[in-house]
Formats: sequence, C-alpha cells, structure tokens
Amino acid sequence: MAKSCNLLCVVGVLLTLSVAGRVSGQQTPKSALFPFGDSYYDLGNKKYLTTEFLPCTTWPYGKSTDRPNGRYSDGKITPDFLAIFLNQPITIPPALQPDADVSSGAGFAVGDATVLGSPSATLTLSQQVAEFEKQRSKWTAEFLQEAIFIFQIGTNDYLNFSKYYPSPDASTQQGFVTMVTNAIENELVRLYKLGVRKFGYQTLAPLGCFPIVKQELNLLGDDCYEPLNEIAKQHNEKIRPMLKSLAQKYSGFQYTVLDFYSAISRRLVNDGTQIFNNYRFSNTINSCCGIGTNNAFGCGRINVHSNLCEYPREYLFFDGFHNSQKASEEIAHLFFSGNKDIVGPMTLRELSVYPNGMNMLEY
Ligand SMILES: *[C@@H]1O[C@H](CO)[C@@H](O)[C@H](O)[C@H]1NC(C)=O
Repeated sequence: MAKSCNLLCVVGVLLTLSVAGRVSGQQTPKSALFPFGDSYYDLGNKKYLTTEFLPCTTWPYGKSTDRPNGRYSDGKITPDFLAIFLNQPITIPPALQPDADVSSGAGFAVGDATVLGSPSATLTLSQQVAEFEKQRSKWTAEFLQEAIFIFQIGTNDYLNFSKYYPSPDASTQQGFVTMVTNAIENELVRLYKLGVRKFGYQTLAPLGCFPIVKQELNLLGDDCYEPLNEIAKQHNEKIRPMLKSLAQKYSGFQYTVLDFYSAISRRLVNDGTQIFNNYRFSNTINSCCGIGTNNAFGCGRINVHSNLCEYPREYLFFDGFHNSQKASEEIAHLFFSGNKDIVGPMTLRELSVYPNGMNMLEY
C-alpha cells in the first residue's frame, strides 16, 4: 500500500488539508468594508454636506495622527482599525468624496445621522442606503456579497428623544424604540435586496454615561443618567433577535453583533476585580478635550478655549460624545476577534471568511 502512495497521492493529501483549512476558516480575511451610521463611523462625509465650520476638521481632532481628517476622534476610529484587520490595503474613503478609490469599500456614515426625522447637513440611515444604491454599480455583485457592512446608529435619535421627553411613560418610550428598530430593519432588508450579505452590527453605548450628558445634568463621579441608559438597553435588546429573524428569513444573510454597551460599561467601572483598573484608561469620566466639569463641551469650536489632555490614549472619551483613538482600537479588536460574551454569534473575522451563500449553522 505504502508503495502506491506516490507523489500524486501526497499532493492529494496536501490539497485535502488545505481545503479543510479553508472550511474551518483559516484563510486570511479580506472583506471590503462599508460603514453606515453616525459620527462614530463617519470617515469624513460630513464636510461634504455643509459649508459651516466643522470642529472635526480642525485641531485638536486628529491630534494623535498627522492631521485632522474629519473624524470625531484624536485619530483613527473603529472602522479604520477594522479595515486594517481585514487586510484592506487602503484607508476606506468617505463615499461622498469625489473620485474616491472605493476598491476597499466606502463609508456612508455621517456625523449627526439619525434613523428617524430629517436633520439638516447629514444623511439619515435611509438616505445613506439611497446613496449606496446610487453608487452601487461601482462594485460587482460578488464584491458586495463578500464585503462587510457595519452599522452604528440610533444614538442621536435617543439623545433627541430624551430632550423632548425627559420622563416618558413606558408605552411612549417602547413605541419610540419600536419605531427606530423597525426603521433599521427595513434598511437592512433594503441592503440585502441590493446584494449585501454580511452584516456587522455595533449596539449603542450607555448613552447616559457620555461626559457631555453627565456634565449637562451635573452628574458627578460614576453617576450616569439612567433613563438614557435604559432606553439604549431597550433598543439594544431588540437588535440580536431582529438580525436572527432576518437570517432565518433571507437566504445567505449572515450577521454578528458587537455588544458595545457592555464594552463601554466595563471600562467605566473600577470594581477592583481587574488586573488593570478600567482597562488601563486612567480617565473614563471626563473628556480629553473640551471645557466644563467633565471637560465635555466644545472641543475644537472656534469661540471655546477648550482644554486638551496630554495623552488622549489614557482617556476613554476624546470629546463629550466620542471615544479616543485608543478606545476605538480596543472596540475594533473586540469586534474582530473578541470573546463570545461580547461579540456573537461569531467574530467579524469569522464573518469575513464565512462561506458566501451559506446560511448560518445555528439555524
Ligand atoms: C427630535 O424630536 C422632535 C420631537 O419628536 C422631532 O420633531 C425632530 O424631528 C427630532 N429631530 C431629530 C433630528 O431626530
């Protein structure tokens, strides 16, 4: 028998091994990336929608990298890191940039975006999907099937809701959350029908712990504005079941959800159980850049003499709303390869290499 195993046989064994490697997802992830949503994912679209002065295009935004680039951060944001982890050779450009090189994907998210309403100088999620539809012929169907579409949206809807309804009754609040999540679901279905197959979804942060929210309400120390946290939780609870039902209904629909809420919450508390307090962020309560009790207001604004911390990497928040580059990097790591308790039913890495056309096996 041994004698009959010639060179061909060896090649056969090697081929079999390499096929097995592919099936178990060992190949290099390479998906293009298409971020949708609000300022957390805006790669620089906002400046194409307004002629007004935008703080995020000026110092100290971009402080930790070469220059301000329209991102709401001291440097890179989560989609930038994800594109790197996904082995994309170039930075993902904002989709509204004329003549952008979209060979690694394109960003449709815009600062101040909402799901409902029609705010000015931004695009609602629905308008972002419409913009994608307009540009869709730039990519082949196969390219789009393999690309990962990521979402971070709803924060501005709930911040606005909470301003208009400081103490809503349970049914008003439930009704609003249902309106928002139904509208999101419609847009995901629209994208599926446009050929999108891989959905990566980042839930909402504990909005009541944003430095700007705490500052406006005079909440000190670890105190957060619980009504806003509650509505964010209520919203987040609907996301996984929604995506699961879409995956059951639509053939080849693949998804994963990052529990952003928990990721931020864990970093906010210093409960003494971690080896490194607050995951090595020395300040999780105040912003790096701004003015006020939480240093949370007005970063980069012309008539505000904002303070600026020396080391943004020590801060969870760069300004009153947005994470520092360092925090965004950690979030991207969790999304790409975190544990099951924070990203599931698979990591973004696994989603990238999950065979096209295959239904998710847990169904
Ligand atoms: C904010 O809420 C008000 C009241 O519900 C609504 O009229 C408005 O369109 C909302 N704005 C945004 C940007 O969602």
